[in-house]
Amino acid sequence: MKNGDLTMESQHRKVRLGIVGCGVIAGLHLKMAANHPWIEVVAVADIREEAARGLAEKFNIGTYYTDAEALIADPAVEGVLFALPPNIRAALALKALQAGKHVLLEKPTAMNESEIRELLAAQGDLVAACCSARLRFFEHARIAEETIAAGTLGELRVVRGHALFAANKAPEKMPPVWRLNRAINAGGILTNWGCYDIDYLLGVTGWSLVPETVLAQTWQIPPVIASHVPSPAQGTDAETHAMAFIRCVNGAVIQLDRGEYMPARTAFDWQIIGTLGSLALEAEPDGSKRLTLDRLDPQLGVLSETLWHGVEDHNISHAGPIVDFATAIATGGQPKTSLRQSLQAQRITDAIYASADSGLPMTL
Ligand SMILES: NC(=O)c1ccc[n+]([C@@H]2O[C@H](COP(=O)([O-])OP(=O)(O)OC[C@H]3O[C@@H](n4cnc5c(N)ncnc54)[C@H](O)[C@@H]3O)[C@@H](O)[C@H]2O)c1
Repeated sequence: MKNGDLTMESQHRKVRLGIVGCGVIAGLHLKMAANHPWIEVVAVADIREEAARGLAEKFNIGTYYTDAEALIADPAVEGVLFALPPNIRAALALKALQAGKHVLLEKPTAMNESEIRELLAAQGDLVAACCSARLRFFEHARIAEETIAAGTLGELRVVRGHALFAANKAPEKMPPVWRLNRAINAGGILTNWGCYDIDYLLGVTGWSLVPETVLAQTWQIPPVIASHVPSPAQGTDAETHAMAFIRCVNGAVIQLDRGEYMPARTAFDWQIIGTLGSLALEAEPDGSKRLTLDRLDPQLGVLSETLWHGVEDHNISHAGPIVDFATAIATGGQPKTSLRQSLQAQRITDAIYASADSGLPMTL
């Protein structure tokens, strides 16, 4: 059964979830779950008691813990959402799987490929879902995926994600150190946003692209605005801009360009080019989006057609993961991004960092 094909019976079965980590993103997950008739968050946990108690009170949740393992052991909890920094997430998620609990992993899914392999080895029949799927909960992504799956573009040649955030004025409040710390977050912009891009590009192309060679470069924040983030002495050591050229089996190329604090205008344009046509996505991250099909007519040249146009905000991408996770548990279906698919994305991420660090192309 695919997600969304809920029987009347399972529609009325509440899926009982627990959340470990009661920070910013946990609050958003809870807001989304609160609007959902058959998700019940029965417990939350955080090492900061005030954070756990605060969310429990705000969302009327009966139980809170200061120890993640106590939540994992709670028999009322069927599935655990890990809304924690990645450096401590996989070890706890592994304990949850070993205790027979389904898991939903915040992004980035893991610090590296070997962590995902460990989780996969423990998964068995349990649901293990990944929040890196967020951008594919948008309607335009479903249409792009169906258009490509129908063969409309022919053989894929170029899959391009290009997304830059222009530098803003100097911040009043410093962003947290973990966002740009490799030991805590595995990386910078590539793990903060690039994980969504890689999932999107692999996902809308039906997970059909098999990466072979990766050549990449990363850069840290431009020195003239270095004061916009915590200093290297405070822990900033990760990139704010990453570019990668990923050659896949059969010659298709994925080209990724993701940056923030850019001395450039904000830009979101994505393109997937095949032998018969291409898809172009022009987007504002939290707003208007237009998906265009450019079809090659041998006599007339390229003919353009808008496939989707509208406003899609972050509420859609934030509601997606927890509802998708609960649906997979209730129906026995697959989540939007499985652990095995995340492994495919993680191998690319690891190769990007290895190439950028060494200056050499990496063979997968
Ligand atoms: N902030 C966002 O907008 C956002 C959006 C999407 C995804 N994410 C991802 O979610 C993850 C968490 O981000 P956040 O912004 O919520 O961080 P946060 O710092 O606001 O929250 C993390 C929470 O985890 C708690 N914690 C740390 N170690 C713990 C442990 N061993 N047991 C229990 N609790 C523990 C901390 O006390 C903190 O309350 C990150 O990987 C981030 O990339 C964040």
